Amino acid sequence: MSKTAYITGGSKGIGLGIAKAMLEEGMKVAITGRNSDALKSAVQELNKIGKGEILAIESDVRNFESEKNAIEQVLEKWETLDVVIANAGVGKFAPIEEMSLEDWNSVIDINLTGVFHTVKAAIPAIKESKGYIMTIASLAGTNFFQKGSAYNASKFGLVGFTQAIMMDLRKYGIKVTTIMPGSVATYFNGHIPSEEDSWKIQPEDIGQMVVDLLKMNPRTLPSKVEVRPSVPPSK
Ligand SMILES: NC(=O)c1ccc[n+]([C@@H]2O[C@H](COP(=O)([O-])OP(=O)(O)OC[C@H]3O[C@@H](n4cnc5c(N)ncnc54)[C@H](OP(=O)(O)O)[C@@H]3O)[C@@H](O)[C@H]2O)c1
Repeated sequence: MSKTAYITGGSKGIGLGIAKAMLEEGMKVAITGRNSDALKSAVQELNKIGKGEILAIESDVRNFESEKNAIEQVLEKWETLDVVIANAGVGKFAPIEEMSLEDWNSVIDINLTGVFHTVKAAIPAIKESKGYIMTIASLAGTNFFQKGSAYNASKFGLVGFTQAIMMDLRKYGIKVTTIMPGSVATYFNGHIPSEEDSWKIQPEDIGQMVVDLLKMNPRTLPSKVEVRPSVPPSK
């Protein structure tokens, strides 16, 4: 597939899994993150695939100018942008009495406003390419739970945002999908993936799903995709 992609939060976890699957397809892939060391080790890992092209860009989705600049770098290097994966996200979980203003703002700024920044910055290029925008929401965007006030609000918001822009953009031939995963084996919320996570969705499974969506017939759009572990441990 000779497409170019921009993945926010591609240095770890789901974003990295998507980058791997795209490179296996021969795509040109830009990944972002806030931490330059994490980006460097991601590039080392991605180089081992030996296919496609990689660009790593330090950018924080909370900063609109930085997202605009990152998209410009992609266009300077590859001239076109076909796929945007708005994936960067964080989780802070606490009962509402203990949820700090700082944590609330961080979750909403990254998971919701951050996606707006990325999408807004990418729209001119995606219109030009009649491209594809995917957001990584969560099953937390449809199922609420204790201690989830900030995360649930961000992901319910993201699902609504993505469905609304799907309605705005499909008339231009742009596809928009929100992917809503259950548990994925990643570094999310300080987790360290281990053998014990083998029952979870693996990042490469989301990568495979993204590539499958890109290959789907242009006439058909899975606009909201829920994905969960087939057999979660019984509680
Ligand atoms: N893991 C799960 O079970 C699960 C389930 C459903 C949905 N999700 C969603 O999947 C997405 C990816 O999470 P993950 O599980 O892959 O977590 P992860 O392993 O912690 O990876 C998160 C990635 O996002 C980047 N990131 C965080 N804040 C950022 C910011 N402000 N600007 C740019 N990049 C930023 C991180 O790099 P830096 O920290 O260096 O910036 C890292 O590359 C999130 O939106 C999450 O809500 C995860």
